[in-house]
Amino acid sequence: MQLLQFPGRLLKSLSVSALPATSTLQEIASSQPKGVAKVVLKNGKRQLFKDNGSPMVYSGSVDRIIGRPPPMTGDVVLVADGTEKPIAWGLYNSVSMFCVRLMQLEEEATRDPSCALNMEKLIESRINAAIDLRRRLGIPSASTNAYRLINSEGDRLSGLIVDVFGEIGVIASSAAWVEKYKPEIEACISRIDDINHIKWRPSVEILKEEGMETTNLKEMHPSTCPERTKVLENGISYTISMEGQKTGFYADQRENRRFISTISNKQKVLDICCYNGGFSLNACRGGAVHVTGVDTSLPAVELARENVVLNELDPEKITFLREDATVFMKGALSRNELWDIVILDPPKLAPRKKNLQSASGMYRNLNSLAMQLTKRGGLLMTCSCSGAMTQSGTFLRTLQASEFPWYEGAASMAGRKITVIRQAGAACDHPIDPSYPEGTYLSNILLRVL
Ligand SMILES: C[S@@+](CC[C@H](N)C(=O)[O-])C[C@H]1O[C@@H](n2cnc3c(N)ncnc32)[C@H](O)[C@@H]1O
Repeated sequence: MQLLQFPGRLLKSLSVSALPATSTLQEIASSQPKGVAKVVLKNGKRQLFKDNGSPMVYSGSVDRIIGRPPPMTGDVVLVADGTEKPIAWGLYNSVSMFCVRLMQLEEEATRDPSCALNMEKLIESRINAAIDLRRRLGIPSASTNAYRLINSEGDRLSGLIVDVFGEIGVIASSAAWVEKYKPEIEACISRIDDINHIKWRPSVEILKEEGMETTNLKEMHPSTCPERTKVLENGISYTISMEGQKTGFYADQRENRRFISTISNKQKVLDICCYNGGFSLNACRGGAVHVTGVDTSLPAVELARENVVLNELDPEKITFLREDATVFMKGALSRNELWDIVILDPPKLAPRKKNLQSASGMYRNLNSLAMQLTKRGGLLMTCSCSGAMTQSGTFLRTLQASEFPWYEGAASMAGRKITVIRQAGAACDHPIDPSYPEGTYLSNILLRVL
């Protein structure tokens, strides 16, 4: 048995399949005792998957489904072109607009038939590949043990997110197949050496859209996981709550937080929507003269304060306040307070495309206030974690001075001029499939505010 090496970790690799290396998907399907249903695409849709590499077959692309009995949600199916020739295989959903989440194209299955139509082996293979990618990226390391191990389509396991927080693997499911293959996924994650606990964080609203009965989800995922754990990121320690927001910690901002630590020396820093203090602690470590973190969540602010103690930082130099962002910023404005560096990382204000217009107004108002609190020549790191905003490409326009008479940007509203210094997204352990831009969500833009 071959073993993949990973710092402190070992995960068994796949056993060699008995199938001949040149088997086609059709031949592999024919060898299955129960047979495999076929989802036949409408004419002209084949290239979306064969050439453009889209990992998702939307229900609108499907012409017909062949199979008796018809496939059920979570079943493995073949995806075929109009002539019924298989081009790929994936996991079927009878309810969702995501009709098939593709797992392998025909060429891949032919090249390596060991995983073809076999979810257990495919899951193991993809998790091995994800571990290997992180190892190449230097994650985990002596200074970071909080990171994303599986990023859905970016790691070719659409609907599955796994974050690793020290000895805890947090599994966030947003597809019915992930719930169906829970034992196989858990088996792989718990075989990673350092992981002693697994915590499930099902995305209830999305799973409802996947046709799942969600009333018993909590009971389906009983947890023996500790309620809190300690992790290390960029050499800074955090106590995180396993019931906290997202999966418990925003690992996506790791590289942007590190950047803040490099520019904070002798600076006065304001961190709006600070959660458990990530940017603030990095600024303080980077030599900031004073840091103020603001968040409405009491549990988040309490954790942030604990994290100051945990890192033995000077409490005179860092303050966390439980307050609404707008209320705080308006108050600070009325007191004529100014900061050298302002960080603004609000929650997802545009959860869907239809909310984009109203969300643009909210982003504009928050950013206008943040710009007014930034000293002339100072820096504003402003973020949007709304996929709809980032994918629309209009975030920068929302920030900049007015281009159109009917559209006033944040800088125009604030009476300030901005220039763009740095543009970033999520950290490198959050890979994106370019054929599925819907996976891109985080914008992090550093502005100079004049
Ligand atoms: C994207 S998270 C911030 C993550 C954080 N910057 C980090 O690096 O971990 C958004 C934060 O905004 C906070 N929040 C939501 N509504 C708020 C409001 N009206 N005023 C202040 N904070 C708010 C949430 O509690 C959450 O901690």
